[in-house]
Amino acid sequence: MLARFAIAGWGTALPERRVTNQEMASYLDTSDEWIAARTGIRERRVAGEGESTGPLSVIAARRALDAAAMDASEVDTVVVATTTSEQPIPSTAAWVAAALGMTAGAFDLNAACAGFVYGLVVAGGLLEAGVAGSVLLIGADTMSRFVDPADRATAVLFGDGAGAAILVPDSSGTPATRGGWGPPSPHAGSGGEPGGLLACDLVSDPDAFDLLVVPAGGAGRPASAETVRTGQHYLAMDGREVFRRAVRGVTESIARTLDQAGCGPEDVDLFVPHQANARIIEAVLERIGLPADRTVQTVDRHGNTSAASVPLAVAEVARTQPLRDGSLVLTSGFGAGLTIGTGLLRWRASRRGPAQ
Ligand code: ACO
Repeated sequence: MLARFAIAGWGTALPERRVTNQEMASYLDTSDEWIAARTGIRERRVAGEGESTGPLSVIAARRALDAAAMDASEVDTVVVATTTSEQPIPSTAAWVAAALGMTAGAFDLNAACAGFVYGLVVAGGLLEAGVAGSVLLIGADTMSRFVDPADRATAVLFGDGAGAAILVPDSSGTPATRGGWGPPSPHAGSGGEPGGLLACDLVSDPDAFDLLVVPAGGAGRPASAETVRTGQHYLAMDGREVFRRAVRGVTESIARTLDQAGCGPEDVDLFVPHQANARIIEAVLERIGLPADRTVQTVDRHGNTSAASVPLAVAEVARTQPLRDGSLVLTSGFGAGLTIGTGLLRWRASRRGPAQ
């Protein structure tokens, strides 16, 4: 087992405004049929004033703290996975810490839409190393602020939101059978085994670096009247090539992760893929042999919420049919970079407060 931890609580936040495909079709050259058939998306939430990455993160964090019956002062480290930080400096994590009056360590992690999966690995490492006794991990993005509202190729795909989880050490049960960094026992749900990260795979596809970019606004090409005039502060994407590489990359990453854990797809109780496109999810399911009824799909209601998509999807499942301790949860994301991240978790809710 790579890192032992339990989930003390979850919280989510979505903007108020719901934008349907039909509404988008009223001002863009698109249609509900095209969007639904190509992506599975029916509607998404779009941030209004005061609903950007920072405020959404704070709401999700407050809800997670309530669910965990914890005070903000009890959190040791805040990690925000985001690619649409509230502002360039300081980090969104520092923004959250300031808003909640926390003295916790705070930093952001940018692995685009794979950010929450990367965050689980980082948070697990902090807990396993004893660096932190509790981690508030948030996945949050406001992609609507970075897509050109007049570009039908990108505007229809994204939604905004945030999801937070509080991770605490799990000392319950017997230690992992092989201990240390070796492969874990593949037998989930036997009751006594601790929760946490069983296996993971974090990679990138260097040939795909240019497929999904916001070219300007960073140190390399600072914002100027010229970059704004030419729309270089907006997301530019080669969707077809991202699709092709995402299917292949995610499938291979999942295969490596399951192999590392000594598991097969049949051992997975719940698969939580990044919610970018229902067709990408279906293609991956077909290739790895996982059934759709063990796979979470929220892309129809949320669109692609980037780093928020995995925690929003997990929270939805946990709310409607609480996950049994010991369940094996597989999660995988891909995003700009292309970064790809997969994690296999043994789910355990902490004793102190039930996960929601
Ligand atoms: N409505 C109507 N027509 C459209 C729209 C739209 N919203 N968008 C594009 N089209 C048109 C195109 O112009 C094209 O027309 P043409 O044939 O006359 O040139 C036609 O539809 C087909 O376009 P394709 O791009 O080939 O369509 P495709 O089937 O590949 O679907 C899509 C496009 C949905 C973007 C798909 O490629 C996809 O989902 N790719 C993955 C993107 C992704 O997941 N990105 C997020 C990564 S995560 C992150 O880090 C942010």
